Amino acid sequence: MSPFQITRTLPEDATDAALRADVLLGLTSDPKTLPPKWFYDAHGSELFEQITELDEYYPTRAEREILATRAGEIAAATRARTLVELGSGSSEKTRYLIDALTDLRTYVPVDVSESALTQAGQALVAERPGLEVHALIADFTAALTLPDTPGPRLVAFLGGTIGNLLPPERAAFLASVRALLSPGDALLLGTDLVKDEQVLVRAYDDAAGVTAEFNKNVLAVVDRELGADFDLGAFEHVALWDPENEWIEMRLRSRTEQTVKIPALDLAVDFKDGEELRTEVSAKFRKEGVRGELASVGLELAHWWTDTEGRFALSLSTAR
Ligand code: SAH
Ligand code: AVI
Repeated sequence: MSPFQITRTLPEDATDAALRADVLLGLTSDPKTLPPKWFYDAHGSELFEQITELDEYYPTRAEREILATRAGEIAAATRARTLVELGSGSSEKTRYLIDALTDLRTYVPVDVSESALTQAGQALVAERPGLEVHALIADFTAALTLPDTPGPRLVAFLGGTIGNLLPPERAAFLASVRALLSPGDALLLGTDLVKDEQVLVRAYDDAAGVTAEFNKNVLAVVDRELGADFDLGAFEHVALWDPENEWIEMRLRSRTEQTVKIPALDLAVDFKDGEELRTEVSAKFRKEGVRGELASVGLELAHWWTDTEGRFALSLSTAR
């Protein structure tokens, strides 16, 4: 059998139905919203990779620093034979774990982006002879069925992507991750930390405008998939810090009063001049909050590592 397999857990028409349902609900709500998972078509995944290289966007570099220095400790603490990674994207930082986990047999990257999974999986099997890559095209917020591979299992959720889930989604998600773990398995979680507002806002509103293009890409996805006529130039990128919720919010602000048609939904959506559509939250965390959220699903925080500047944390927790 080829060392690289890719499995779609939901048929393409179910993905299409999920997009229609999300767009219908989100654009008929007040305020209007769209879920961030629809950013990541092939172009959106490529734009995210460009974001990770921006001077202003520190989370990727900070998490890479932690992985580079702590991968040996993570490997010693987990001795994983299967590594599952949720929202794996390019799997670029994951190489530190793959190299350190000497007993690793199978890597299971899980992502909604087929292009990211294919590129990353094919590169990895070429670079790491003996490693099986079983990629899953799946929504990590839905119930996941993982391939039957040997434990111990390490589930990694890197990049701070957990911050893109709203608090109730986050609680349900953590409970579902807990259900994937048997005694001896572990969760490695990346969380961006609360810090100076200016540093945070700059990370989501870069000078080159890459994040603005990423934000507007969700409109391009709705145009392409549902035949909508969003004019990307008629919306402005907005990134702001919400101190109460301790999250960055990305929005798209209508530059004018306009009506957008979405033929696949038989829907016309009115925007007022200046009206904002929320496209993403990116929550920032504190250690005790993370400990509490893990504990509430029966996971015990065993390690907490930060980068030298204290911007980002990786935590390792185990099933109690
Ligand atoms: N882990 C990588 C990528 C982070 S970008 C890193 O740290 O750099 C977020 C990734 O999660 C993208 O690849 C995106 O396609 C994926 N993603 C977002 N929402 C998802 C969902 N609901 N289910 C599965 N994958 C999702
Ligand atoms: C994937 N996720 C952790 C990114 C973040 O920082 O919230 C997505 C992103 N949005 C804008 N820039 C990056």
